[in-house]
Amino acid sequence: MDTSQGSKVVLVTGASSGIGEACVELLTVRKHIVYGTSRQPSVRESVGYRMLEMDVTQDASVRRAVETVLAREGRIDVVVNNAGHALAGAVEDTSVEEAWRQLDTNVLGVLRVCQAVLPSMRERRSGRIINISSLGGAVGLPFQGFYSASKFALEGLTESLRQEVEAFGIHATLVQPGDVRTRLTDNRVRAAASGEGSAYRESFEKVLAIIEKEEREGVPSEDVARRVLEVMEVEAPDVRYSVGKLAQRAALVAKALLPAKTFEGILMSMYGLKRR
Ligand SMILES: NC(=O)c1ccc[n+]([C@@H]2O[C@H](COP(=O)([O-])OP(=O)(O)OC[C@H]3O[C@@H](n4cnc5c(N)ncnc54)[C@H](OP(=O)(O)O)[C@@H]3O)[C@@H](O)[C@H]2O)c1
Repeated sequence: MDTSQGSKVVLVTGASSGIGEACVELLTVRKHIVYGTSRQPSVRESVGYRMLEMDVTQDASVRRAVETVLAREGRIDVVVNNAGHALAGAVEDTSVEEAWRQLDTNVLGVLRVCQAVLPSMRERRSGRIINISSLGGAVGLPFQGFYSASKFALEGLTESLRQEVEAFGIHATLVQPGDVRTRLTDNRVRAAASGEGSAYRESFEKVLAIIEKEEREGVPSEDVARRVLEVMEVEAPDVRYSVGKLAQRAALVAKALLPAKTFEGILMSMYGLKRR
């Protein structure tokens, strides 16, 4: 696929706010043919891109949206798997049902979308899948165990997928944002058992306050959208690209270089957690 020129047909999941919305806006300005998705889409024809209904946890909903784009445009060149939400809570306080919902959206949602778009991409021997991961997919964050688990899973899934689809001319790539100012913070779901009576309550509240402050002071969504555009335009995209504040991206290097317990100690002290 020549990614440097010409309009691409792009499908961005979770485009009603935050990173997804910034992506559809930037890609529209760059003259691509853009479709965004939401569980409750508003009509946005006037802004140059189209919003389709898609709930990534529902097989039929995913298939319907993908078929709509294929029927209208005849192809999908790029998919940005961005739809996601965050669950917070100690691992012990997280119910199987809550964990399942987190993984269903953030991991199986990507699987559903990939399975819907890959046959047509394989047939055309061309396509690009950009999966929005997180620095939480490289570093296990306290009280975000299942959010981190979902993004670690997405990392592994994408590394595998990349190797499988390359022969069909398809590139799969990860984008790992650090903290970004979006509605993710306000939309975060707290495990029901994290409240009154939780053995972790005090440290959970302290750590979550730090996490949410950092998110509110994070980079704008447009920074991630620009990185996504770069990934679309580069000829042979790398496995992953990080985006965010330098200090947060430096954590990836620190994790690779430092002994694991040293790195963990630094992380814990950043979140005000004491070592015994
Ligand atoms: N903000 C950060 O600091 C940060 C950092 C790293 C990675 N990320 C990742 O970036 C992605 C986008 O998050 P954001 O920060 O932009 O949050 P956001 O503003 O809350 O946007 C989340 C988007 O996902 C959609 N969504 C949620 N559940 C869905 C479902 N079941 N089916 C379909 N769409 C669904 C929402 O659409 P509707 O509600 O309209 O359906 C919304 O458009 C997520 O994957 C997140 O994990 C965010």
